[in-house]
Amino acid sequence: MAKAFVTGFPIRHSRSPLIHGHWLNQYGLSGSYQAIEVAPEGFADFVQSLQRNGYAGGNVTIPHKENAFALCDQHDPAAEEIGAVNTLWFDHGKLCGGNTDAYGFVANLDALRPGWDRNKSAMVLGAGGASRAVVYALKQRGFNDIRIVNRTVDRAKQLEDRFGAGITAHEWRAIPELLKGAALIVNTTSLGMEGNADAAVDLSRAEPDALVTDIVYVPLDTPLLRSAGELGLKTADGLGMLLHQAVPGFERWFGVRPEVTPALRQLILADM
Ligand code: ATR
Repeated sequence: MAKAFVTGFPIRHSRSPLIHGHWLNQYGLSGSYQAIEVAPEGFADFVQSLQRNGYAGGNVTIPHKENAFALCDQHDPAAEEIGAVNTLWFDHGKLCGGNTDAYGFVANLDALRPGWDRNKSAMVLGAGGASRAVVYALKQRGFNDIRIVNRTVDRAKQLEDRFGAGITAHEWRAIPELLKGAALIVNTTSLGMEGNADAAVDLSRAEPDALVTDIVYVPLDTPLLRSAGELGLKTADGLGMLLHQAVPGFERWFGVRPEVTPALRQLILADM
């Protein structure tokens, strides 16, 4: 019976146990998946103890993703590029780390808005860890014009340096100009999240066929998506990113590639 976990600090709000529990049930598997809260100072010891305690692997979330990267013996290409790990597993005793956030982002848009990547230009709000995964995903998909907007422009410049050609860093006030020609608009900041300020972005100059997506999923209908909807723009919510990013880990630990179904989506929505 394979055992897996999700760890973070705090961890009680994580929906991952619900997602993996649903799949274990759906596929009749006898594995387990549990949330384990680990403070930053205990993280290295926790990782050391995994094999001894019989874990096949697990998920890592805030604030451990960079730390996990440093502790792994090997990384998949996405983790290598993003510099953060959200999925751990073992291969011949070696600790391996992957990053499935970029996969989740792309798989969500593929499912909700097929053809979303026809025009390879995007405006990305935010330059933190989540933005790194999104920018990597877009580069992988052949995007050749990615305009990163961040309150702290230096952080956007760091992404420009990291990912190279086709990426430009901008100040928030440049948004109206940057919207011209941007086929995809992505919010990766924590703005719009329940309890936080709204992402005050005036989308009135967005291209009429632009797609607006938010990686925030609580609430599902963020202020940004609402204002996009009111302007008649296409939208895609971020819940699917959470669901799809869980797929590769489940497959590694439990041996079945699980499906993201409407029933799973409903289950998570009911818990919100
Ligand atoms: P994550 O890993 O979720 O991306 P992060 O690395 O802390 O988290 O990044 C948070 C992002 O939200 C950053 O782009 C941050 O902007 P700064 O780099 O300027 O801090 C952005 N953000 C958070 N609160 C914000 C606010 N009140 N106004 C504008 N941007 C904000």
